[in-house]
Amino acid sequence: MAVPDDPWDIAPEALSACRSDAERWQVLCAWAVLAPSSHNSQPWLFRARGRQLELLADRRRALPVVDPAGRELVISCGAALGVMLIAARALGQGLEVAPLPDPAQPDLLARLSLGPALPPPADAAQILAAIKARRTTRRPFPAEALPMDALFAADDAALAAGATLRWLITPRDRYLAAELIAEADRIQMADPAFRAELAHWVRSRHAPSRDGMSGEAVGVPDILSALGALAIRSFDLGAGQAARDQALAEGSPALAVLTTPGDAAADWLAAGRALAEVLITLQRAGLTASYLNQPIEVPGLRPRLAAMLGSEEAPQLLLRVGRGPALPPTPRRPVAEVLEHA
Ligand SMILES: Cc1cc2nc3c(=O)[nH]c(=O)nc-3n(C[C@H](O)[C@H](O)[C@H](O)COP(=O)(O)O)c2cc1C
Repeated sequence: MAVPDDPWDIAPEALSACRSDAERWQVLCAWAVLAPSSHNSQPWLFRARGRQLELLADRRRALPVVDPAGRELVISCGAALGVMLIAARALGQGLEVAPLPDPAQPDLLARLSLGPALPPPADAAQILAAIKARRTTRRPFPAEALPMDALFAADDAALAAGATLRWLITPRDRYLAAELIAEADRIQMADPAFRAELAHWVRSRHAPSRDGMSGEAVGVPDILSALGALAIRSFDLGAGQAARDQALAEGSPALAVLTTPGDAAADWLAAGRALAEVLITLQRAGLTASYLNQPIEVPGLRPRLAAMLGSEEAPQLLLRVGRGPALPPTPRRPVAEVLEHA
């Protein structure tokens, strides 16, 4: 293996040390899996064959209750693709991408080909450092004005990947979005199947499966993750969750909805690529993001959010943005588990 067991330990020099295309794909996949994914389910598979690589959806890692269509699953895979492309650019590795190349194989999300070596950009080291430093930060962000140039750069990053960031600026929009988030929390948490699915993915960051979310994501110390999961499964904690999330949304320095022109697999993949570009752009400006996707996940509420935006586009993710503390990384499965060589 050309890569360390823990993908977070991937070194910027690893690609230049590779002696074969198989090794190059190992290194590029190690960068890709540092992407965020819904519930840290890491629902991606890679298949390398010579100079080509296939990215496939791993439906065994689906979240059928919160994400029955696999929309967030494809967004997560799109984020992995996006992070791979960002890393490849920084490493001076040309990559060509064909999204959804075969209508007969809907789980084949992209086919990539190694291109020629390119001169790496002057800020390569900062880009790679930002990929490693990115975290989902669920804590409240300090109320402060954010640097406009960073938000404009995030806008451009989303647009270049085929999606749009729509900032919720007026007090009315922020209030309505916070209300929708709270309503969605109450609906989701009242559903025992939703709670069981969420609880299934809550585990210590030291668990051998190297996936899922620490109890810290649901407000308990990592060591008490099993108790946190039990509480989620057993009790409807929707009222408390709704109040907390409503306060988070209303107090957030910035809130944005990521939208796409349509709502098909190609849009979801583009949303994931855009998410990666946006998060790395924000990270480079010292900013972090967190998700309040609930009103997009509850079918009855998604059209209300879209109407509030006054746009024909499909909402895909609802993000809050701010400055957060340094956090330890969440676990990732080793590359050997997600990459097969044909
Ligand atoms: C499509 C998608 C949806 C997500 N939805 C939520 C969410 O609703 N709530 C939340 O707290 N985190 C959400 N996340 C963040 C993941 O839980 C997080 O990426 C994962 O636990 C890995 O942690 P990391 O981002 O710090 O590496 C989402 C991530 C993605 C890519």
